[in-house]
Amino acid sequence: MDLYEHQAKDLFDVHGVAVPLGAVADTAEEAASVAAGIGGPVVVKAQVKTGGRGKAGGVKLAVDPTDAQAKAGAILGMDIKGHTVHRVLVVEASQIAEEYYFSFLLDRSNRTFLAMASAEGGMEIEQLAVERPEALAKVPIDAIAGVDKAKAAEIVAEAKLPAEVADQAADVIVKLWETFVSEDATLVEVNPLVRTAGGEVVALDGKVTLDENAAFRHPGHADLVDQRTEDPLEAKAKAKDLNYVKLDGQVGIIGNGAGLVMSTLDVVAYAGENHGGVKPANFLDIGGGASADVMAAGLDVILGDPDVKSVFVNVFGGITACDAVANGIVEALKILGFSATKPLVVRLDGNNVEEGRRILNEANHPLITQVDTMDNAADKAAELAAAGA
Ligand SMILES: Nc1ncnc2c1ncn2[C@@H]1O[C@H](COP(=O)(O)OP(=O)(O)OP(=O)(O)O)[C@@H](O)[C@H]1O
Ligand SMILES: [Mg+2]
Repeated sequence: MDLYEHQAKDLFDVHGVAVPLGAVADTAEEAASVAAGIGGPVVVKAQVKTGGRGKAGGVKLAVDPTDAQAKAGAILGMDIKGHTVHRVLVVEASQIAEEYYFSFLLDRSNRTFLAMASAEGGMEIEQLAVERPEALAKVPIDAIAGVDKAKAAEIVAEAKLPAEVADQAADVIVKLWETFVSEDATLVEVNPLVRTAGGEVVALDGKVTLDENAAFRHPGHADLVDQRTEDPLEAKAKAKDLNYVKLDGQVGIIGNGAGLVMSTLDVVAYAGENHGGVKPANFLDIGGGASADVMAAGLDVILGDPDVKSVFVNVFGGITACDAVANGIVEALKILGFSATKPLVVRLDGNNVEEGRRILNEANHPLITQVDTMDNAADKAAELAAAGA
């Protein structure tokens, strides 16, 4: 889960990283009163989960509360790369002497953590990484050893941060590592990390991605979810503990096992090319125990997607055998009753497949078409989706 800048900074603050004083506002009037509370010039910043806000005009200096109100009025409601701005962060304006870049991230390809740092931070960092990669230090971090003051000093030296901030920057880096580890983050990025005219090292921006697999360890993280921008179908699936990701296609997909579901998406996208370009509408892995309840919950979410025109149930019977899955499908359709209206293509294979197919044949449900191979089933599902579109 990606956090908003203001949420990231709240976490920084908890872990002792200096951030500018500020508060969020949902209206221009609120922005004015936050600015009045801060006193002096402020920066009004769009809170959206995408980069390049400054360049899009979503970060603006305001000299006083009246100005903050005007700037917030212009930024609220703005569209930045498809994200509507519902909220702004109003923070005291810092006197920036220098801008640096710093991040900790999960380096999946090298199976380790990585620190990245540069003495040349700011809005052009992506360009810097491409044009002068040597100016961006990359230091692998051992997950067990972590980052102590000595390791942080090594990162600071690699990044060639100026001597006068070296000690302070190393302290900040240790605290950012504490944030990264104790919050179970996969990304902590500060761009820019600045030296102020007063010689302080402050995080002027913050980007944090939390690892949702660790959510059970952090009851407080649930409060960071923004209900307003969450996809309603994904929220419904999450409430039922389903592994669901909405995509923009027309063929609903249910399978067991993430690998099988991934290949089902590929096969359906490929088959769709022969049927007017229909595509998979979602990823949904119902896991090992394909009980009637889980099947019903999955079908309920998928059938609730107005874009879905057909559903492809692709199950390989393992510990949960095909007969149990077949019964699950039949029971699920009973549970859903008249709310199930879209054609289902079912492909069963694996453990006890004969019995599974027999159960579905016997049920003779008008919505179900059984197809024995994955390719042919994908083709049928794509054909039905194209016909229903
Ligand atoms: N509190 C502040 N005081 C003074 N200047 C600021 C402040 N916050 C941001 N700025 C300036 O605005 C620039 C852009 O701000 P910020 O980094 O938060 O947004 P961004 O980089 O455009 O957004 P993103 O990180 O989403 O791409 C900063 O590099 C900095 O120069
Ligand atoms: Mg930034």
